[in-house]
Amino acid sequence: MADYVLAIDQGTTSSRAIVFDHGGTIVAVGQLEHDQIFPKAGWVEHNPEQIWNNIREVVGIALTRANITKDDLAAVGITNQRETAVVWDKTTGKPVYNAIVWQDTRTQKIVDQLGGSEGADKYKAKVGLPLATYFSGPKVKWILDNVEGARDAAEKGDLLFGNTDTWTLWNLTGGVDGGVHVTDVTNASRTMLMDLDTLQWDESIASDMGIPLSMLPEIRSSSEVYGNGRKHGMLDGVPIAGILGDQQAATFGQACFEVGTAKNTYGTGNFMLLNTGTEKVPSKNGLLTTVCYKIGDQAPVYALEGSIAVTGSLVQWLRDNLGMFTDAPDIEWLAHKVDDNGGAYFVPAFSGLFAPYWRPDARGALVGLTRYVNRNHIARAALEATAFQTREVLDAMNADSGVDLTELKVDGGMTANDLLMQFQADQLGVPVVRPKVAETTALGAAYAAGIAVGFWSGEQDVIDNWAEDKRWTPDVDQGERERLYRNWKKAVSKTLDWVD
Ligand code: G3P
Repeated sequence: MADYVLAIDQGTTSSRAIVFDHGGTIVAVGQLEHDQIFPKAGWVEHNPEQIWNNIREVVGIALTRANITKDDLAAVGITNQRETAVVWDKTTGKPVYNAIVWQDTRTQKIVDQLGGSEGADKYKAKVGLPLATYFSGPKVKWILDNVEGARDAAEKGDLLFGNTDTWTLWNLTGGVDGGVHVTDVTNASRTMLMDLDTLQWDESIASDMGIPLSMLPEIRSSSEVYGNGRKHGMLDGVPIAGILGDQQAATFGQACFEVGTAKNTYGTGNFMLLNTGTEKVPSKNGLLTTVCYKIGDQAPVYALEGSIAVTGSLVQWLRDNLGMFTDAPDIEWLAHKVDDNGGAYFVPAFSGLFAPYWRPDARGALVGLTRYVNRNHIARAALEATAFQTREVLDAMNADSGVDLTELKVDGGMTANDLLMQFQADQLGVPVVRPKVAETTALGAAYAAGIAVGFWSGEQDVIDNWAEDKRWTPDVDQGERERLYRNWKKAVSKTLDWVD
């Protein structure tokens, strides 16, 4: 009997495999980090082969820890860091270049040239996104323009492109021996190449970027059987039946199925998604219009998204680049030693600023310093930066949707940080709610796969399995709340126009 579903979560810093049971409870986890490669300032790469090897290993670890085999699995779901671009040779299976990660800013010139006199919003009505270094299309163009022989090979039909969902699926289903070259609508909606209405590749945008259509994966729903695990592999014959970009997967796992429900995930960056139903809502306030999910042949559901590039990765940066502490959770202990930020504000514009500003020319700044400020204040300022950035995105959501959110569902690593979550509720002025299973990203992918094969009957099972763990309610003086936020805005203004 197949009593479990496996989710593979190919994230920015690690790859994980998680076994879930029918109640949506975690049975076992395997996790391995991969290298973060920074060849130049602003460049961020991953090694796709290392990622694939890690995935195989974590799947083995998770199955062993759960004491099960592939025969116990009803299906496998994939979720992934979005936008990160991999280009590989379909006959050798080898990547022609490292994966260019979503945080990478090397495509700034390409993006400016593509916009030309029409500027950053040139393709926005079609794809829901402003031209920015964040998205995959310009990264693929960079690889074809800069890797010797890549453009010729692409034009001959020898190269394939995919985000890491597609790279994972292609390898899981056989690689050079018949690997399935497919992506789902949510990942495709982050490339700048998919028309949000037709859910197909837009030939004219692909041609503007010089990307042959032959290298693009087929776009399918988020919940259907794409193929089976490769022969003689650990998942031999198991249906791979769900794909959702990680933020959309978290929205699904948080049971945000009603129009107007939203979640905020605290990972490397922060990503807030608001379900707008079958209607695609254009943003006037710096948010993205994106596909939230599509179950089989049902109509697609759209979302508004506020993407923040740097939140958790600021904590990693304080740990790895400044050596401020050895374990990321220690930041809370440091921040607790002081009552406030001592006047310090930290704007982590390491990849420029994403929502709601979309300012690639911004760079990070720590302002408001006096001799009074010590590392505890800086730890606190780093945590507060996450909460301030989230407030900016929530304000934009309220303005775009015309309805004020009354509470916010949260998930991800930093939601374990009580000090941050209380400060977040104080800044937002609405309760912040964390579910019992905080691994909502992997859970969402598991649900999408399980629904496709009938292991779960549909959204109602997801709703029934969702349970509240903890709630933080606002508890701060209104004047103080606004004073801090005004200072934050002033700090942001200091980071702009840094790069010409
Ligand atoms: O858009 C980037 C996002 O998908 C990355 O998420 O959780 O890997 O930082 P995460």
